[in-house]
Amino acid sequence: MQERSLPIGVFDSGMGGISVLKALTQAMPGEDFIYLGDTARLPYGTKSPQTVVRYSLQCAAALASRGIRCLVVACNTASTPALPALRAQYVDFPIVGVIQPGAQAAVAISRSLHIAVIGTEVTISGGAYQAAILSLNSRARVSALACPLFVALAEEGLTTGPIAEALAHRYLDPIFQVDSPPDTLVLGCTHFPVLKEAILAALPKGVNIVDSAVTTAAAVKALLHPTISLTRGRVTWLATDNPARFARVGSTFLGEPLSPDAIELVDL
Ligand code: DGL
Repeated sequence: MQERSLPIGVFDSGMGGISVLKALTQAMPGEDFIYLGDTARLPYGTKSPQTVVRYSLQCAAALASRGIRCLVVACNTASTPALPALRAQYVDFPIVGVIQPGAQAAVAISRSLHIAVIGTEVTISGGAYQAAILSLNSRARVSALACPLFVALAEEGLTTGPIAEALAHRYLDPIFQVDSPPDTLVLGCTHFPVLKEAILAALPKGVNIVDSAVTTAAAVKALLHPTISLTRGRVTWLATDNPARFARVGSTFLGEPLSPDAIELVDL
């Protein structure tokens, strides 16, 4: 019998990273994954960068202690300040964040090179997307905006309908209802893809949406030797609080039912 590879570790502050996990399982169906949602301490996006680094190191330690062959930081907020500390701490496996793949996809698809990025306060004020996009093309222009209430809506499962659309207009109109608006919008928070319908309803026609979940999955796939398996890999689910809520809201992100019994409660 063939020995299986170690799983790929994935973490986020909550359920948002499940959008990345879903893209990963679609791109690499034979792999095993361990997903950790730090639901006890969500949101990360309103915390200080120092706190986000500390929490991220604790999430990584919990996953590394179980044995992983790659770590995916499925959280833009954590990717922004924590990647250097994580890479300094763990040298035995590669660590992939969501920002570089998202920036690359945006620069590749934008024709006008005027790119909008939305994310949490930590992500936007940290400037990592702005820097990544400009380092790929110095002629690019970036309009960046923190949209913290989108995280709350996504976590509440309030992803479509008038409230989500009104909020999308409130946030996005000042960027897009102007002369020469951006032609590309980066969803710089893994909670945002479930709000895509409401976001699209608020955008002028033809704006490209970059969802870094898909681009991150492609980056991880390119990095690793695939596990050759005839069966689908399994996902181990960990959460730091309230498995029942994790299962309910997580199902929205996963697009399939998640049983509370499948979620292990862990303390960091
Ligand atoms: N999902 C996280 C991200 O991609 C943010 C959510 C939070 O504020 O914790 O940035």
